[in-house]
Amino acid sequence: PAPGWAIDADVVVVGSGVAGLTVALRCAASGAKVTVVTKARLDDGSTRWAQGGIAAALGEGDTPEQHLDDTLVAGAGLCDEAAVRALVTEGPAAVRRLMATGAHFDTGADGDVLLTREGGHHRRRIVHAGGDATGAEVSRALIEAVREAHTAPAAGRDIELIENALVLDLLTDAQGRTAGVTLHVMGAGRRDGVGAVRARTVVLATGGMGQVFSATTNPAVSTGDGVALALRAGAEVSDLEFVQFHPTVLWLGADAEGQQPLVSEAVRGEGAHLVDADGVRFMLGQHEQAELAPRDIVAKAIMRRMLETGADHMFLDARHFGAAMWEQRFPTILAACRAHGIDPVTQPIPVAPAAHHASGGVVTDLRGRTSVPGLYACGEVACTGVHGANRLASNSLLEGLVFAERIAADVLADPAAPGRPVLPGPVGGPLLASEARFEVQRIMAAGAGVLRSAESLAVAAGALERLDTAAVEAYDRDGKTAEPCVETWEATNLGLVARVLVAAARRREETRGCHWREDRPGRDDERWRRHLVVRLTADRT
Ligand code: SIN
Repeated sequence: PAPGWAIDADVVVVGSGVAGLTVALRCAASGAKVTVVTKARLDDGSTRWAQGGIAAALGEGDTPEQHLDDTLVAGAGLCDEAAVRALVTEGPAAVRRLMATGAHFDTGADGDVLLTREGGHHRRRIVHAGGDATGAEVSRALIEAVREAHTAPAAGRDIELIENALVLDLLTDAQGRTAGVTLHVMGAGRRDGVGAVRARTVVLATGGMGQVFSATTNPAVSTGDGVALALRAGAEVSDLEFVQFHPTVLWLGADAEGQQPLVSEAVRGEGAHLVDADGVRFMLGQHEQAELAPRDIVAKAIMRRMLETGADHMFLDARHFGAAMWEQRFPTILAACRAHGIDPVTQPIPVAPAAHHASGGVVTDLRGRTSVPGLYACGEVACTGVHGANRLASNSLLEGLVFAERIAADVLADPAAPGRPVLPGPVGGPLLASEARFEVQRIMAAGAGVLRSAESLAVAAGALERLDTAAVEAYDRDGKTAEPCVETWEATNLGLVARVLVAAARRREETRGCHWREDRPGRDDERWRRHLVVRLTADRT
């Protein structure tokens, strides 16, 4: 649809998690006019749900080099070492800047921040807040700072906020450079309906795509909108096959759908054991770090044990923590378990893997630039190269912080050349019906989940293709498409990213990191120590 209204900014930030708000604050602090556009409310994205914390080499005896080593091991041969080096060396300062912005992390009696451990880390290096509510604190601090800039703009701190606004497509100028975005704003007011924000810099910080699967730790808004937009804009996207399944998600039954409660890896970091229905600790002997092995190894071991024993879940046993430790250290998880009738103080917690984090996304360089001039990507939507085939726990909030700073520096070093004509950018084509969302989720859960094979992926690819073809045929036949609204755009975005994800997973004929091919059990460095990069060339996929 054609935009009914337009406003101007220097920088449009799409998304309001740790990545988006940090870019917005840093750009605005240097005098840029920033507009933040977010699909729901400012704190509705994934950041708020992060439990474990933020990894950074802040502890005594720890070094960025050791953090680098752990990140490279988890990434299973596909990390970009320069990107990881930037992450781990700039990480400690980025965490301190976040503290200066107003985030409060848990501290000990000496006033030093407390550090916990998670899978794949050989040291305690994870800062946390409120015990297990780190993301909520990060989100609170950043939103407060952004609202302050919004409501009382001092010279050089100008941030406009547009909530309930789904970004549709990228606008480009005559040279193919970014010229803004189109968006659909829901709600009353003068900026209602489809409009545009014109800007020469667009930063995608839309988070992940966990909702492409039936069961995920991600909130309902994580529908791959940024990756879908980037694909339609012709940007390069990579590594979509590397979806990380978190090993310990509260198991609520085989039919549970949508966002599921996470049981942080920090629970294992503090000494919880994974056991089967007979109470056997099955991670012993599987890996030298046992329950604290990298996440893909733990998720696979859980799945294997489930297949061996015919169970649909395993258990996390932390009864030995006792009530006081549960209440003080993991109050959020304790409350979530109790809300579902499980008391971790007296019972082992039923857990199973669920989709958690997209290691791939829109390809960027070390400055956060994508392959489309003027378009940046930051946070989970991006593929900066720091995660490789499997993200190390608690590196994602850190990635958002570090690369947000890098993007702000790059944007500010490359001042605007205003006044370029905006061409109608949106790509046409039919929308999927809103119910297609659930169909996509079931197809992906059945064929492209934690355990995949050529056969299961072929079935998934066929089913996704049929969904799309039906919509295209109806459109071509009588020009009809589903009513444009958030639900149909989301379903369409989910359908697109699912098809690209499945295509990449079929192509990668090996098992590596969090991509587990039952029919190709080994890692094949000779053929597959490389990335699968996708760029759409047709205007319909
Ligand atoms: C967790 O707390 O287990 C999640 C941490 C992460 O995904 O990085």
